[in-house]
Amino acid sequence: MTEITSLKGFYDRYPEDYTSLRKLIDIVEETAEEFGFREINTPNVEKTDLYRVKSGDELLDQTYSFADKGNREITLIPEQTPTRARLVQQRKDLKTPIKWYDTSKRWRYENVQKGRDREFFQGDFDIFGIESVEADAEIIVTAATIYKKLGVENRVNFLINDRKLLESILKSQGVERAEAAMSVIDDKEKMGREEFLEDLESEGLNREEAKKVDEITDISGPIKETVEELKEKTPEEAEESVKRIEELAEALEAYGVEEMCRLDLSIVRGLAYYTGLVFEAFDAEGELRALFGGGRYDDLVGLFGDREVPAVGFAFGYSPTIELLKKEGKWPLKQVETDMYVLTVSEDVRNKGLEYAKELRDRGLSVETDLTGRGFGGQLSYADSINSDRVLIVGKRDLENGEVTMKHMDSGEEEKLDQDRVVEHLKSEDFF
Ligand code: HAM
Repeated sequence: MTEITSLKGFYDRYPEDYTSLRKLIDIVEETAEEFGFREINTPNVEKTDLYRVKSGDELLDQTYSFADKGNREITLIPEQTPTRARLVQQRKDLKTPIKWYDTSKRWRYENVQKGRDREFFQGDFDIFGIESVEADAEIIVTAATIYKKLGVENRVNFLINDRKLLESILKSQGVERAEAAMSVIDDKEKMGREEFLEDLESEGLNREEAKKVDEITDISGPIKETVEELKEKTPEEAEESVKRIEELAEALEAYGVEEMCRLDLSIVRGLAYYTGLVFEAFDAEGELRALFGGGRYDDLVGLFGDREVPAVGFAFGYSPTIELLKKEGKWPLKQVETDMYVLTVSEDVRNKGLEYAKELRDRGLSVETDLTGRGFGGQLSYADSINSDRVLIVGKRDLENGEVTMKHMDSGEEEKLDQDRVVEHLKSEDFF
């Protein structure tokens, strides 16, 4: 016999695990709906060329890419952003703002670790067709709302930056190869200082320039104050980016989420398509990898056709967020639940039990009945294992008296009910 397990980094989710993940997906999607994002559903496999156009090299190295039976190069989607850019380009009739969300699986051949899997769920949110800072603010506020609903807003820092701003500050400080420095800056949090400087040198910067990069990317703090400080360092060509960040700070303040946000010049993001705003969220203790990430990508849609469409969005990471919730003692979010278990004491009352089950299911309750022919005790302990709220005990002797018994599983209390008034009784208790 061969024992076959799932692949490394791929997870089997049994009902007791999936029920909490499903609840988290519901919270994320409910937030999306509240902000007027519309759900889309797109392929999980794309032509590899979709990613050749523009993704970070790191991402391309990490894809699950194959030749199919017709020898076409195909890739399991590592992210949904290029797919979305393709969709927006394809449909010229869409009215802006185009606001889309979805939760589905992605695949990346990564080093598996806490919160980093090879098959994982992402929740993508994007707004297409709006250049102004209002869309940036709405995207950040949507993400913040999810963490507020989860009750962990104090445990999460949103780190915000603008690539254009950083590049022009670096250039004004004499760092000529600012673009080459970006990929090294992206990994700064994972490195020691000396390693960081050496990596910058291997990108062609001299020691002086590397030290400047180090100093500037150390700048981090509350948005408004930090922008004030930065103003001294910013050249004229960065004035617009500075103004944009100031406007963003105003909007975030109006939404009441500015306390979760910081301006942090070390955030640049690995993906190649971002053109301005970039942001990432981390747990306040800094132990976990990014909880989500996103930014503005005004050129990506234009790479797939003749239409330029500005865009901003983020992808919510389910696995790292679950790790945060575990750390905060807020996981599991939910257990498997059942409203009613109809316990039939003997075979001859089984049909009567099924009638009750049908009536209660018709009213929207989740109801289980016995499928095994187990005895009284066996059925009761099964009802307990599926967290049944109530058990309706249907027995021959009770029925002869015109009654059934309702057991409340939390208190253990039992009450006799008129066999024809079960639904009315539950209604009077607001059970439906
Ligand atoms: P990303 O930073 O590659 O961005 O991924 C976003 C989030 O997805 C990460 O912060 C992390 O929480 C989660 N994530 C990434 N890789 C893994 C993994 N291997 N296992 C578990 N979770 C993971 C993007 O994907 C962009 N497409 C986001 C975006 C949307 N930008 C604009 N719109």
